Formats: sequence, C-alpha cells, structure tokens
Amino acid sequence: MDIPKHVAIVMDGNGRWAKRRGRPRIFGHVRGSARVRSVVKEASRLGIQALTLYAFSTENWNRPESERKVLWKLLRKYLLRDIDELHRQNVKLRVIGQVDRLDHDVREVLTMATERLAHNTGLQLNFALSYGSRSELTDAARRFAVDCLAGRATPDSLNENVLDSYLWTGELGELSKVDLFIRTSGEQRVSNFLLWQAAYAEFVFLEVCWPEFEPKHLEAAVNEFSLRERRFGGLGKVTHV
Ligand code: IPE
Ligand code: IPE
Ligand code: MG
Repeated sequence: MDIPKHVAIVMDGNGRWAKRRGRPRIFGHVRGSARVRSVVKEASRLGIQALTLYAFSTENWNRPESERKVLWKLLRKYLLRDIDELHRQNVKLRVIGQVDRLDHDVREVLTMATERLAHNTGLQLNFALSYGSRSELTDAARRFAVDCLAGRATPDSLNENVLDSYLWTGELGELSKVDLFIRTSGEQRVSNFLLWQAAYAEFVFLEVCWPEFEPKHLEAAVNEFSLRERRFGGLGKVTHV
C-alpha cells in the first residue's frame, strides 16, 4: 500500500459535536483533545513519517477569551500527560505558528516537550498553533527581505526551495510537502492551513467530527489515499494518447 509520508489534519467539529448532544462547545474540545493520543499512535503504526495537526488558527483568536483559555489549557494538559508516552513512541515534536503570541505558560510546556523529544527519530509530530498560511508566507517574505538588505541573500537567489526554507516548516525539508490532507466535520475548506505545503496534497473530507475520530478513520483515509492516482500535472498511468 502507498503510505502518505506527511499527513495533515484539520481537527474540526468539536463545537457542533457537543451542541448536538446538548452540551457546551467546551465539552467538545475536552473530548476532541482526548482523541489525539490514539491518532498519533496509529500514524506511527501505519508508517506515516510526519503528522501535522491544526489545533489553533490565526483566525481562532477571534473566538471568545473563555473558549481560547480552555483550548490552551487542554493543550498544556495533553502535553504534560502524554510526554512520557510520546517519548516511548520515539515521537519528535515541533510547533509551527506564531509562537510568540502564546502565553508564557503554554510556551514553557512546549519548550519542555520539544526539548525532551528532540533526539527522537520516529514520527515527526507538528502542532500548528496560532498558525495561518498567509501569516507564514508574509513572515517568510519579510525575513527574506531583511536578509537581502543585510547582504545575506539576493533577490535572484530566491527559488522554491529557498522560500521553503523560510517557512515555519522549513526544517522538515522535503517532508514539509503534504501528501494527505484530512478534514473532519464535513466542512470542505482549507481554512488557511498549509496552503503552500499542500499544493499537491490529496484531500479527504470526513463527515465524522473530531471528538469521534478514531484510528480506523485515519486508516480509511490512508486507504483512500493509496487508491488515488497522483499525476502531478503529468499523464500518470495513461498508456496511449
Ligand atoms: C475545532 O472545532 C477546534 C478548533 C477550531 C480550535 P471547532 O471549535 O471549530 O468546532 P465547530 O467547527 O464549531 O463545530
Ligand atoms: C480550522 O477550523 C482551524 C482548526 C481546526 C484549528 P475552524 O473551525 O476555525 O475553521 P472555519 O471557521 O470553519 O473556517
Ligand atoms: Mg470549526
């Protein structure tokens, strides 16, 4: 089976899942955060090399402070609770997004977790936090311009690989390219996630909401991926014209 190297997931639908059960949105976030552990484990088992989870977008800052607080608290709780397990599974962690916008206590736990897992060699787990592709690309352009002014780069030296290296996913190299892009909750939009990196991703939209996402859903999406013919603008398996 053709296993995607890099899978990106928009973990969507927590609020609707809770509302349908007559519970507050926050209950959906609590249940949603509890889904991450088994999905990370399944990604490793399937032989996926990188898993990027969209946990908080730049646009999510527009949500009420009470909801944002819960989301950050759940992230800290997840990391503190699962760090040993992630280490046992040889998982490596990185954060992509506007890290400096996060509260000190959140950054502290993130630093602890990334340092603890830094030398692992298994699944590359990326948390997209205060992430937005438009802000990522703007930031890359700004830093490239600064390097040009400082004489460290010239406009002619810019090509796709160089631009790649200025993105928050830069250190992933070739692995930054998303093969499989999954979104739960039935919504069919990108919502500012990995626009550049997912240029040739295969998209799988699932009706299940994130709090009901199980390892079998990831496996099904990977199966679906393996049935797709990726042509990259060429003619694929066509044998005659
Ligand atoms: C995803 O669920 C979690 C975040 C965006 C942080 P939502 O909170 O977007 O849930 P819905 O889409 O409103 O149901
Ligand atoms: C995308 O979901 C962001 C995350 C899942 C973290 P949203 O619920 O914020 O996106 P929209 O508002 O439906 O586009
Ligand atoms: Mg949503």
